[in-house]
Amino acid sequence: MIQFNNLNQEIPYQLLKEKYDEAMNAGQKGIEAISIASYDSKKNEVDSRYVNLKFISNDEFIFFSNYNSQKASAFNSHDQIAALVYWPSINVQIRMKAKIKRTTDEFNQNYFFNRSEEKNALAISSSQSKPIDSYNQVKENYNRSLESDDLKKCPEYWGGYSFAPYYFEFWEGHESRINKREVFDKIDGTWKHSFLQP
Ligand SMILES: Cc1cc2nc3c(=O)[nH]c(=O)nc-3n(C[C@H](O)[C@H](O)[C@H](O)COP(=O)(O)O)c2cc1C
Repeated sequence: MIQFNNLNQEIPYQLLKEKYDEAMNAGQKGIEAISIASYDSKKNEVDSRYVNLKFISNDEFIFFSNYNSQKASAFNSHDQIAALVYWPSINVQIRMKAKIKRTTDEFNQNYFFNRSEEKNALAISSSQSKPIDSYNQVKENYNRSLESDDLKKCPEYWGGYSFAPYYFEFWEGHESRINKREVFDKIDGTWKHSFLQP
């Protein structure tokens, strides 16, 4: 589930919440999974991966990750991303574009402090996206962390990322492929509303 805090009153955010509620009511599994596509300008390469969206606070979408991971390198080199959700239970896709940034140390410490020790041990012990000799080694590192690390203290290499989309496209599947594509594009601080052909 995604936690909504003081959700922005502007139309695209309200529409997103409306679709989220519909998908929840339709029993959508993995509703918080969101694909984040990035561009690494040093490698000249595009990549994408799912993360779990934890919060939408006003206009900021927030997820958590490792600040030394591959995605982090990509965000450091190019701060623009594309985010994507698809909720099959209601046949809705939402495409977004945004600039991404880290959340504050204080926010990360507070969030980490309130997570389970098991999750924190993995966050501490995993050098995310770095090669390792075996899966067994991953488990050993995790167990060592569980026994000996301070599991309430967020390491500096772990924390949140936030992004406030400047572009939304809501795609709804309809009969006979007469699908609805509704766009909200923020231009000079104002949402420009339009439709695209399917
Ligand atoms: C449904 C789903 C949710 C995930 N959530 C997260 C997440 O919240 N944070 C995270 O760092 N990785 C998450 N992952 C793992 C990422 O997809 C990815 O493997 C990892 O972040 C490393 O990506 P990178 O090498 O591009 O940095 C999730 C994977 C799936 C399939």
